[in-house]
Amino acid sequence: MKKIKIGVLVSGRGSNLQAVIDNIGNGSLTAEVAVVISDQADAYALERARTHNIPAVHISARDYKGKREEYDGLLVQELRKHGVDLVILAGFMRIITGTLVKAFPNRIMNIHPALLPSFPGLHVQKAAIDHGVKFSGCTVHFVDEGMDTGPIIIQAIVPVLDNDTEDTLAARILKQEHRIFSRAIQLFAEGKLTVEGRIVKVAGGRTESDDHLFNP
Ligand code: GAR
Repeated sequence: MKKIKIGVLVSGRGSNLQAVIDNIGNGSLTAEVAVVISDQADAYALERARTHNIPAVHISARDYKGKREEYDGLLVQELRKHGVDLVILAGFMRIITGTLVKAFPNRIMNIHPALLPSFPGLHVQKAAIDHGVKFSGCTVHFVDEGMDTGPIIIQAIVPVLDNDTEDTLAARILKQEHRIFSRAIQLFAEGKLTVEGRIVKVAGGRTESDDHLFNP
């Protein structure tokens, strides 16, 4: 199977990037990280990329206030330069524009630390606790021009416990993020994902189940 080339956009610590690198290393992900791009010069994710000899690029957004399309044009240029097949947003804390979405239609994935469409946006682990939901989790979705609105590929759920803080819930969710992001990328690499409207059809996906989950 041909390895797909991934471009990873990051802003911070890059634990999701690390999980992808590790899963490529252990053979469970048939892909190559072609480039890591950050809008933050000091993102630890860039360090992680360099450690693995992956091109690590900082593209500052400083001169692009109010010019999001232009900034995204630079991202597209860099991603194309590295022959990227699939773009993944791994903790990339910028709103992206049609310039990027149109350059990679149904070829951009985002990981979000909540069960979309509940709790889009930021600080969502706290929002889940404050709302009193009994389950939260994470979602990998294709990116469209809305915020956290694109077609859902895969979700994992975790219980919200009575003594959870924002940090303990975030940590429980993050563990699952590290699993499902790679799984979504592998499904893409195997050509198993088809987007029909806002539904993602997964070849070999589940059609029946006798599982029930409840909490408490
Ligand atoms: C992850 O929890 C990811 O789901 C979240 O940022 C964190 C990045 O962690 N992304 C968003 O909230 C996007 N709106 P990481 O840098 O360790 O991968």
